Amino acid sequence: MSNEADRKSKFYSCSCFLTDNFFLEDFRLHVRFVSEQQFRLDYQPLLKRLGCITEQQFGDVLSKISQEVDRRRRLCEASAERSAAIKSTYQPLHPHVYHLQESYLNAEFKQIVEFCRSGAACEAGLLGLLEEAGAPRVYRLPVFERKFCQELVEELEHFELSSAPKGRPNTMNNYGILLNELGFDDGFITPLRELYLQPLASLLYPDCGGRCLDSHKAFVVKYALKEDLDLSYHYDNAEVTLNVSLGKEFSDGNLFFGDMRQVPLSETECTEVEHRVTEGLLHRGQHMHGALPISRGQRWNLIVWMRASQERNKLCPMCNRRPSLVEGGGFAEGFTKA
Ligand SMILES: [Fe+2]
Repeated sequence: MSNEADRKSKFYSCSCFLTDNFFLEDFRLHVRFVSEQQFRLDYQPLLKRLGCITEQQFGDVLSKISQEVDRRRRLCEASAERSAAIKSTYQPLHPHVYHLQESYLNAEFKQIVEFCRSGAACEAGLLGLLEEAGAPRVYRLPVFERKFCQELVEELEHFELSSAPKGRPNTMNNYGILLNELGFDDGFITPLRELYLQPLASLLYPDCGGRCLDSHKAFVVKYALKEDLDLSYHYDNAEVTLNVSLGKEFSDGNLFFGDMRQVPLSETECTEVEHRVTEGLLHRGQHMHGALPISRGQRWNLIVWMRASQERNKLCPMCNRRPSLVEGGGFAEGFTKA
């Protein structure tokens, strides 16, 4: 069996993906939906306070959730169809950016990773080489060379302008690109994760699955005036996240970090973290965070959600329950069959 076929048969989704964790954009609210009865009981009073007053308005919310459930059911199939259409019709502007090369990476980043791979590798030594970004266990890394960032953004803009079908990263970002559908997984994101990010995560986050990251979901999000400006407070469907600023020119739009998601918001103090072009922020996926609005320009970010099936098979990070597995395509949600 080829690696690709092996991977396809190995990764599963948690059934919570179909019914839990909806984001109601109109009310900027994350909700859980199991049945209409449960949803009315849990959220109708809160939604009323947020302006969803009439039965008609509540019906609109229910219909949006039901459309989203349908969309998620069709997601795998639709994604495979889009990948195939992109492969057969889309002509890349910069074909070389699909294959990770050492020359794309910042020299300091390569040295840090070299240390992590060496016999001398230890957490204390690595912390001496890294800059903590102001929030606990959030690290700033100079990941890419500027020229590569420019070419990648050019490639993504070229794709956006093409007639190829486009899937969107998640319900919180309306503008962005799923990198697996565009063909970045095998030649770029998988080697980036396995050869460069895994050695770092092993030392920094052994308690969060950092030693056994075995899949990922990678996407690019775009913020611009008149499009998405910011990103509300959330946690990622990941054990470890890398978020790299690719450009272009923008003002404001800092990230902010709170506490781990188990800590109530009332006990949380948030810290702002500047995001500089070519640099990445590495953090635990369950570390709550968001992005403040930009006030000028365009901001493109590469996000790699790295997953450890060993961790998530025990407890789904999205619903906090032991997952009941449903089959998914590609890396799906990063669970493996027991
Ligand atoms: Fe995030």
